[in-house]
Amino acid sequence: MSNSALIKSSIAKKYWMALTGLFLCLFLVGHLIGNLQLIIKTGEEGRRAFNEYAYFMTHNPAIMVLSYLTYFSILFHAIDGIALFIQNKKARPVSYAYNKPSANSSLPSRYMALLGTIVLVFIATHMSNFWWKMKVSDEVPMHTYYSPSSQDTMYLTQKGEQISTKQIRELGEIEGTELILKADKFNASIEQQYSSYLASNPGISDDQLADIEEQKKKLKSKKDEILAEGYKDLHTVVMAFFSKKNKSDSGVPLGLLGMFLYVISMAVLGFHLWHGFASAFQSLGMNHPKYTPLIKVFGRGYAIVVPLLFAIIPILIYLNS
Ligand code: HEM
Repeated sequence: MSNSALIKSSIAKKYWMALTGLFLCLFLVGHLIGNLQLIIKTGEEGRRAFNEYAYFMTHNPAIMVLSYLTYFSILFHAIDGIALFIQNKKARPVSYAYNKPSANSSLPSRYMALLGTIVLVFIATHMSNFWWKMKVSDEVPMHTYYSPSSQDTMYLTQKGEQISTKQIRELGEIEGTELILKADKFNASIEQQYSSYLASNPGISDDQLADIEEQKKKLKSKKDEILAEGYKDLHTVVMAFFSKKNKSDSGVPLGLLGMFLYVISMAVLGFHLWHGFASAFQSLGMNHPKYTPLIKVFGRGYAIVVPLLFAIIPILIYLNS
């Protein structure tokens, strides 16, 4: 590739890195506001507020589009960054003999690729902790509670109304109650499968019949859990993750380690943003004698405040657990 083509392709890469990076900065603000509910509200009120928020984030179509844009931006930003790093290395394999980096650039700017890689590893571990459980493996329990006065499992609708499972069945489909109706269908299909199995196997012994009944009971108790669905209880999962009580069987304090992992990662994120925020505006060609210094100050403020607030969340959860 000629030198000018190389520069052009490097400018294009920087442009896309800047756009995706700034989009991710917006994502971080939204994510932070949502997560702050973990520490602002406490008790049942906090659990409810956070789970309602998580339900909204996973069901609102516009937010779902933004989520896909976030995944795309993370991947694109990382791949483009690695490509740019390799391209720069190839263009200048050996440092200039009298190169004195400390005189030309700040420390974070020289380590952007390394800092970015650590942030990427953090995001991958972070998503496997919460996002994977919520969206893929379906390990998150349901947010319900038993009401002694209604003598029924209570469910929270999206409008914040409390409604018993019995009422939902009587009223039919209500916004946000589709899980219960889905569970009803699941239940009916189990019954149907068992009766058709029994009809096609008339000579079944009493022992086999007892086994089948046992199996059905197990499936039904699972079904009862599904029937009690409301919002997913992501709040409890996050609280348990950073809790002092989160220890492995051999006593390793997983909650404490998790808390430290998040705090260190947020420091790394801060350094990455310290240089990245203002640099993105430069890559987009926005250079202005009056506004560029302001963007720099704002970017540095952002790089301190956002990671700091993120870091406070696991610390407080751990200390209050
Ligand atoms: C204390 C800090 C944080 C906590 C407690 C936290 C918590 C969570 C939780 C509970 C989810 C799952 C939400 C869901 O699937 O509905 C999630 C998703 C996610 N988090 Fe975090 N987070 C924190 C910091 C961060 C940081 C600093 C980043 C990026 C550098 C990040 C990136 C993401 C991404 C990309 C997702 C997936 C979002 C989506 O599906 O739209 N998180 N986080």
